[in-house]
Amino acid sequence: MASVPSLAASVHQRVSDALSAALPEAASADPLLRRSDRADFQANGMLALAKRLGGNPRELAAQVVAALPASGEIARIEVSGPGFLNITVSDDALVRTLAARAADDRLGVPYADAPGTTVIDYSQPNVAKEMHVGHLRSTVIGDAIVHILEHRGERVVRRHHIGDWGTQFGMLIQYLVEHPHELDHESDAAQAGGQGEAAMARLNRLYKSSRALFDSDEAFKARARDRVPALQSGDPETLALWHKIVDESKTYFHSVYDELDVEIRDADIVGESAYNDDLHQVVKDLEESGVAVRSEGALCVFFEDAKGPDGTPTPLIVQKSNGGFGYAATDLAAIRNRVGELKADTLLYVVDARQALHFRMVFETARRAGWLPEGAARQLAFGTVLGKDGKPFKTREGETVRLVDLLDEAVERAAVVVREKAQDLSEEEIRDRAAQVGIGAVKYADLSNSMTRDYVFDLDRMVSLQGDTSVYLQYAYARIRSIFRRGGEGARPAAHPELELAPQERALALHLDEFGDTLATAAQEYEPHKLAAYLYELASLYSPFYENCPVLSAATEAERENRLFLCDLTARTLHQGMALLGIRTPEKL
Ligand code: ARG
Repeated sequence: MASVPSLAASVHQRVSDALSAALPEAASADPLLRRSDRADFQANGMLALAKRLGGNPRELAAQVVAALPASGEIARIEVSGPGFLNITVSDDALVRTLAARAADDRLGVPYADAPGTTVIDYSQPNVAKEMHVGHLRSTVIGDAIVHILEHRGERVVRRHHIGDWGTQFGMLIQYLVEHPHELDHESDAAQAGGQGEAAMARLNRLYKSSRALFDSDEAFKARARDRVPALQSGDPETLALWHKIVDESKTYFHSVYDELDVEIRDADIVGESAYNDDLHQVVKDLEESGVAVRSEGALCVFFEDAKGPDGTPTPLIVQKSNGGFGYAATDLAAIRNRVGELKADTLLYVVDARQALHFRMVFETARRAGWLPEGAARQLAFGTVLGKDGKPFKTREGETVRLVDLLDEAVERAAVVVREKAQDLSEEEIRDRAAQVGIGAVKYADLSNSMTRDYVFDLDRMVSLQGDTSVYLQYAYARIRSIFRRGGEGARPAAHPELELAPQERALALHLDEFGDTLATAAQEYEPHKLAAYLYELASLYSPFYENCPVLSAATEAERENRLFLCDLTARTLHQGMALLGIRTPEKL
């Protein structure tokens, strides 16, 4: 498993070395090498540098050229404009670098220099409730980031901080105590949608009936309230019923995860309840250290910059005046666990941007308490999913949209697209592909936007074959695979660095060279959309290559092998990149 630096990176290094040789004061200055339309690369760094050191940028650029030792990598370098360097790499070096990449299972992608341990909190649905589009975003973004970080060699611990604790469980459990058969499996297991949907239907029924009683019957309300301390102190009967509710929910969650095609492991589902036993210690420590103070009976942490609209401070409430713990206490206990026990260097939280204030206050509290090193925690806040009307996505009745309904619809739409194009696919294959295309479309639409932005959930656009969609990428992949099927035994890829490349081949090859660097950026900045944009560009560059450069009918054997080599590396890069985004690339479409 050899890691192969990109040609871009080694050219960058050469220019940087030449710059330090030409101008020792400029050692470690960045030559600012970028891809360019004029040549393969342009280095702009000499401009600012000459200005800063009081020299002439064109002269400095010429000195850099003179200091550059001859190498096989750079075919041409010239000073242009006010002091740019235009650099053209050699076809030979380009193909050799790609060949080294192709020889590696990981496509030569380097590991991070100093991998650490990241605990990532994502996909955190709430027990006894439906999953909605917010949970979609957290799940899809979190899953992609896990893959990208792991691929770079980071140790990643996944945490699904599900909402499985709190006062609402008093009501649900008390109802079950009084109506022991409420969650019994009737014949509804056979209902359309399977086990998961049936489980959710039972939970909905339990929720509705207990809510109705809670709102209409004062005596029940009181009994429900008394159930909460019984749960928190671990009363066996209460806990058993609580487990029953949580298990039903997990059955439902897993059915959604299966359809979404994400792997969520039971061992990583460590919900709010898991920190119950630590909450008293958290409160004690915060109070003793003075980080939190009692205010009107509640234990609060105050912040200079957190004030409500009327100027009164908005505190973080760690413990309510009735002694109950809320969302903040659990998050604080989780931080202690993640830093102290799990030895995390980095804590990530893939959570809706609307919880930004909560996390700012929680991180700052943990920092003051000495539980969290400065800057070690970060919320990867994501924007809202909007309907076509530009408002938060709701059903016509104004209710939150059930995630399963959305996914089902996406798969249905995809089936139409797949069926239209399908040539030699069986009915079963069509259904299979429809799932991969439909779910891929939903994930890609989410991941191709920068995560902080809101986006419109528009299935027509998502499953379109035109434009920046996963289907477009999946087709590019399937098209390449079909070349190899058609070529059969004779379709043997082999790199030929001695050949001169056509412009479309060079453009494709130069982009292939950037895969590892793109992944490094996507990982460092937690930005899966940079990987998505890279893959879209790759598929877009493949089309003109395919139209202008005949592959199986190339003029010479060497050219044919070299083009097959570019095809193969493009396909493997698409496959690898899409897999990191959690999206399938079917062999045939
Ligand atoms: N369960 C919460 C929700 O559905 C998200 C939990 C986020 N994670 C956390 N550590 N607070 O909104």
